[in-house]
Amino acid sequence: MQVFDAIRTMLAVREYQDRPIPDGVVARILEAARLTGSARNRQGWDFVVVRDRATLRQLGALASTGKYIADAPLAIAVVVPENTTGYMDGSRAAQDMMLAAWAEGVGSNVVTSGNTPEIKELLGVPRERMILMLIPFGYPAGKVGAGRKNRKRLDEIAHAERFGQPFGG
Ligand SMILES: Cc1cc2nc3c(=O)[nH]c(=O)nc-3n(C[C@H](O)[C@H](O)[C@H](O)COP(=O)(O)O)c2cc1C
Repeated sequence: MQVFDAIRTMLAVREYQDRPIPDGVVARILEAARLTGSARNRQGWDFVVVRDRATLRQLGALASTGKYIADAPLAIAVVVPENTTGYMDGSRAAQDMMLAAWAEGVGSNVVTSGNTPEIKELLGVPRERMILMLIPFGYPAGKVGAGRKNRKRLDEIAHAERFGQPFGG
């Protein structure tokens, strides 16, 4: 899949088939994170890979905006230092993982309610670090609407040279 096609078609996937993700695909998702550029190339991130069914169920029970993690075959916790660089680096790695997964037919979504003491304890994340997001992954249970997205028009968000000047293309 071409990069732009992956961006064009990827949507949030919250329902998953009861089907494991092959180890090779998991490895590729993590490799996408590892290869992502970070501020000053510090790579101050960690990724906790969860495939244990009981742990996934617990994550679903604990993450207030990600109950559906309980039914995913895989979730990856993106762990960063709690600062702007951490947020930016972690978000870039997350998007690369999600696009790499999508190119393999694997859907995912961002869950941002993972930085609780209970979830940090469950995953053994050090107190001083932050779970920036939990990303459940899985083969989509339903048909994902090929590229139909509810987004603002480009002329609402793109500006030519100066803010407020319409971008004509
Ligand atoms: C920063 C951020 C936080 C998000 N947090 C959650 C979340 O906690 N739970 C959830 O189900 N979706 C979450 N999402 C997913 C968004 O709801 C989703 O990307 C958006 O609605 C667009 O969905 P679509 O690509 O399917 O159109 C989050 C997305 C982002 C970028």
